Amino acid sequence: MKTVRNRGRTLTALCVAALAGAATAHTWPESTIRLAPNGTMIGDLGFDRNHIPDGDLSSFKVPPPGMNKVQPDHKLVRAGPLNAGSYPPQFPMLSVAPGDWVAIHYRENGHVSRADSEPMAKPVNRGTVYLYGTTHNDLSGVNFMDVHLKWTADGNGGDGKGRLLATRHYDDGQCHEAIPATGDVAGIVASRKKFTNVEAVLCQSDVQIPIDVPVGSIYSVIWVWDWATLDKWGVAVPPATYELGQGDPAVLESQFYTGVVDYKIVDPCDEVLGPVKGPTCVQGTNKATDAVQFVLNQPAVSRGIPAQMADPFLVKVPQAGFNVPGPTADPKSIPFAPVIGKTEKPKLPWPAQILAAQNTPGAAAPAAGGDPSGDEGNKKSPAAPNPTSTSMPTSTPTPTGDVVVTATTVVPEAVVTATVTRGGALSAAPSQRTVYRVRGRRVTAQW
Ligand SMILES: *[C@@H]1O[C@H](CO)[C@@H](O)[C@H](O)[C@H]1NC(C)=O
Repeated sequence: MKTVRNRGRTLTALCVAALAGAATAHTWPESTIRLAPNGTMIGDLGFDRNHIPDGDLSSFKVPPPGMNKVQPDHKLVRAGPLNAGSYPPQFPMLSVAPGDWVAIHYRENGHVSRADSEPMAKPVNRGTVYLYGTTHNDLSGVNFMDVHLKWTADGNGGDGKGRLLATRHYDDGQCHEAIPATGDVAGIVASRKKFTNVEAVLCQSDVQIPIDVPVGSIYSVIWVWDWATLDKWGVAVPPATYELGQGDPAVLESQFYTGVVDYKIVDPCDEVLGPVKGPTCVQGTNKATDAVQFVLNQPAVSRGIPAQMADPFLVKVPQAGFNVPGPTADPKSIPFAPVIGKTEKPKLPWPAQILAAQNTPGAAAPAAGGDPSGDEGNKKSPAAPNPTSTSMPTSTPTPTGDVVVTATTVVPEAVVTATVTRGGALSAAPSQRTVYRVRGRRVTAQW
């Protein structure tokens, strides 16, 4: 198993740059890894297309820097065509099987740890990440508006060349940078350091490669982060619009950051996959299970995010077949949800009960009293109402680690998100909701 590289120094430098001016902000998907059904990262890292190591130049903003509004001819991605030079030996493309889960890593660069120290109002989920997939790999001439908010989960939207695979909160609920020179203004870093047991951990977007992607093809996953500047604080998720100044809440400035990660789609039993084969491999060595059974008690730096592996659409959008007028999400899936609806710029540092509101069962902030903010008012508050909060991940998982059983489901009938059963049979059941249950205990969260 490989853990992701710690780049605290680079993070600090980037963040100082990012916060120096309101117009500069950066994030791009930079590496990827397979996830076993229990949420453990497995195998080697793969990279993004035409990877630039530690490179600020990797960042691709839509609309281009200096502009507020997306125009129809603004391009989707920096990456350009996919060719022989796109994945040099030191930054290879990841091989995956149809139906595999993958995590796409990115640095939060202060947009989680210190988002509210900036002057402008940003959504509480720290923006929404939309993940689109296509086998049409040449994205060099593709316009942003022809893909974003056009491609749908059923693949019929827009020009029909790709589909919406998932929506995620940019704040995955555990990622944080090392404490930068400018300090831990909200208390987020100290809080997350406690429950992750690491100085810094990259953010991730987890996504399932569709089960019907042909073996032998290359599947391009386009990562689109909507980091809109809004007209008020406390908005849970950004509205999905290209218009500025309209609606409530209104977008004052469109800010998207995009990137592309390609996957080589191999036979589900291929050697290159190592011991954990694809979910449709039926050979004797098959380790696939018919559903995600997330083991919570494992190191934060090498596990996926249970909320993401339980629900492809943490943000419900009409494009995913939900009957909603605009994006919406259950607050329980949003870290720091207590500040939703608070239309004043938040007072920092945050008290313990805000820091404790996380989207990962068991991943609660320190109990009252251990709170770095020293907020008197919180001393009497109960600890996070989470029965699993007492035992946090240690550096090595115990063999009896808690297993979070996720009964997945928040998928409308119109959207085919296939569930694979052992032996490769497919089913696409309609759904109601997602339930988290830590084995042997009561339901810890559901939405
Ligand atoms: C998860 O599954 C993989 C593959 O079977 C295994 O290597 C890993 O140890 C498991 N992780 C945990 C925490 O049980």
